[in-house]
Amino acid sequence: MKATARAGSNIAFIKFWGQKNEALRIPENNSISMTLGELWSQTTVSFEEDLHQDQIFFDGEEASPSFSKRVIQHLDLIRSLTQVNLQAIVETQNNFPMGAGIASSASGFAALTVATANALGLKWNQKRLSMIARRGSGSAARSILGGFVELLAGVDDDTSYATQIKPEDHWKLCDIVAIVEAEEKEVGSSEGHQLFKTTPVHSARLNKLHHLLAMTRSAIERKDFMSLAKASEQDAIMMHAVMMTSDPPLFYWEPGTIELIKAVRNWRINDNIPVFFTIDAGPNVHIITIEQFRKEIEARVLELSLTSQILTSSIGSSASLV
Ligand code: DP6
Repeated sequence: MKATARAGSNIAFIKFWGQKNEALRIPENNSISMTLGELWSQTTVSFEEDLHQDQIFFDGEEASPSFSKRVIQHLDLIRSLTQVNLQAIVETQNNFPMGAGIASSASGFAALTVATANALGLKWNQKRLSMIARRGSGSAARSILGGFVELLAGVDDDTSYATQIKPEDHWKLCDIVAIVEAEEKEVGSSEGHQLFKTTPVHSARLNKLHHLLAMTRSAIERKDFMSLAKASEQDAIMMHAVMMTSDPPLFYWEPGTIELIKAVRNWRINDNIPVFFTIDAGPNVHIITIEQFRKEIEARVLELSLTSQILTSSIGSSASLV
């Protein structure tokens, strides 16, 4: 009863922030992302007869209590849906550094869900896997699928899952993650999601989202880079406006973040290069471009004074068994 799965991280063009139901992790709004092929988590789950408790390892070492607790909760959820009551050894690793501004919970819980389901012999389809992955981390629901993906917020556990808009070979985009701060963020997204009700900017963002979601779906289908750029940048700025106006406020941006925002907009608007930025719950900036401009943008980013390093990934495929 053992399986190994690999899942790519993802970067959202339209983000979700806030949850309708915290326990079930049902997001406030739909989100649209692209799965990342070269930034992944790989997880092995092995259910064994003679184990007295679950054992969780991260990068070959015993995981921290908070990390283990979240993983064990997820194992408990999946075990509760089966007749199995065995304990497991879970070994997980990422091929990117923690705290690099890349959501390791997305790839991590997607890989954990696929490995656990397969170790238990469950024949779940992608919709079911996505619903279960969501319970580990909202954005993990999207990492079950490859290419361009929409997480339907839904209204309850059964209606909140991800679907594919287009597969990864539809449009060869890539993500250059510019790292301005490698330290772990002070307020993680699980805590941050709870603050959305404290700011009036949240409902202003929701009013606009319907339009931005439609614009993003259509931009992906038509491969209209400039529309995708416009919708994504608007939403990233709006989400950070929600964060900054929360009580207490969440300021994720650092000086290097602003330097990158200005540089990327300048390259697009003045130099006519297809490039845009988006930012998750942290200071690092995800720079999206078309594969053929990857080298040019990487070189430009590394010339900026406040970016310490970059990580790059092309668009990737669904979570799968290794
Ligand atoms: C800003 O999926 O990290 O990246 O369910 O608490 O793990 P948890 O939240 P998480 O939230 C994602 C927040 C975001 C936006 C996005 O990816 O849509």
